Amino acid sequence: MEGAERISVLYSATEIQDRIRELGRQITEDYRGKDTVVVCVLKGALFFMADLCREIDLPVTIDTLGLSSYGDQTKSSGVVRITQDLSRPIVDKHVIIVEDIVDTGLTLNFLIDNLRSRKPRSIEVCSLLHKPARTRLPVAVKYLGFTIEDKFVVGYGLDWEQRYRNIRYVGVVEEP
Ligand code: IMP
Ligand code: MG
Repeated sequence: MEGAERISVLYSATEIQDRIRELGRQITEDYRGKDTVVVCVLKGALFFMADLCREIDLPVTIDTLGLSSYGDQTKSSGVVRITQDLSRPIVDKHVIIVEDIVDTGLTLNFLIDNLRSRKPRSIEVCSLLHKPARTRLPVAVKYLGFTIEDKFVVGYGLDWEQRYRNIRYVGVVEEP
């Protein structure tokens, strides 16, 4: 892609799809017979959620939720706000939160607390990436794509100032 010259591949499109197939299989086993809603955290998890859901062989429902974190592009401030709420109640449902990346864990801790107050039957997290080196509040990620080092990554939904979400792979932005 034009402008993507400074991005080196960390996980190729094929590696991502292979991992998603495994996660989908695992979720299919775990959620059989359960009334399940897959909650996509916008916008970073859009592509991941779309591919993951098609690897879940169950009649799940899908909803989306927009969050915005105050702070600059590369740092999470921990002050999170819901910019677009779910379209339906989740009471008594089994919720799978789908995220692009768990960095400090602040965003997901906020979201899990918020969703828990709506009385779902269960909540689990499925994240494509996790950067454990930067954890400030631990999050139990039951379904995890890949663990990565403390580097800023883009692609496959992840952005750098809203760009590069539409790259098929996950890559690292090289320092100039
Ligand atoms: P946390 O609250 O620090 O866990 O960060 C959550 C959000 O920060 C993620 O959902 C991403 O939107 C963003 N983020 C964290 N690390 C990266 C990265 O390496 N690339 C792109 N976005 C990131
Ligand atoms: Mg995100």
